[in-house]
Amino acid sequence: MDDLQHKINSLDKSRIPVHVAMIMDGNGRWAKQKGFVRSDGHAEGISTVHRVTQLSSDLGVRYLTLYAFSTENWNRPSDEVATLMYLIGWAIERELPELLRNNVRINLLGDIDRIPDDARQRLFYARQATAHCTGLQLNMCLSYSSRWEITEAARKLAAKAANGEIRPEEITEKMFSDNLTTAGIPDPDLLIRTGGEERISNYLLWQIAYSELYFTPVLWPDFSDSDYIDALIDFQNRERRFGMTSEQVQNNE
Ligand code: FPP
Repeated sequence: MDDLQHKINSLDKSRIPVHVAMIMDGNGRWAKQKGFVRSDGHAEGISTVHRVTQLSSDLGVRYLTLYAFSTENWNRPSDEVATLMYLIGWAIERELPELLRNNVRINLLGDIDRIPDDARQRLFYARQATAHCTGLQLNMCLSYSSRWEITEAARKLAAKAANGEIRPEEITEKMFSDNLTTAGIPDPDLLIRTGGEERISNYLLWQIAYSELYFTPVLWPDFSDSDYIDALIDFQNRERRFGMTSEQVQNNE
């Protein structure tokens, strides 16, 4: 048995996280280290997206949420933005047959109207073509930022209050969650950030209130199946208390 299979076997299959979110950082540095241009790092990063999607699906993760392009990423040099948009559209089209074979459902989170026409059409097509799939749900965050999303939710609720549909004192956490782009999706159990930085960068701020955070120095294009399993093993060794005491958690189990 090879090392990877051995690691996979050591996972507790009854405690696979339902929802894994990822910040895919380090493409630019990976490219620079190799003497390539930054976009080559993004192209290589797509292979990692393919692998983590496959492994998540095989392990029974229900939701995989990837930070593919942030609101702030629009400020990058225009040629890098254009290449990333091209790559995203191209990758989703190329991967579609395999996503369908694996019963993976595509979902888009973010200000998708800002995505250039060509990539947006391919993304919409993939979302519609996989709408019937019941396996892994792959949430792609595009032109996404958490403050944007929270502001939008506040705006929607304020509009409902202004036209008398709801009263301000009736607003609950649940109602707020239901107005985020992640409505209906359980909060992430585990957030993985590659690339060595230990910050959240405006990602799922509301949703990660009780998520386990895992940071690895491995650059996204190098993030292997074995690195992913290491993160899952680390997750399984943690005790999630949700504000309770250790004794309370153990009594509840
Ligand atoms: C961060 O690395 C990565 C991004 C801004 C883009 C990530 C996008 C992909 C891997 C493609 C996604 C495609 C699909 C189909 C989901 P960075 O450029 O900030 O790296 P650096 O910190 O080393 O400069």
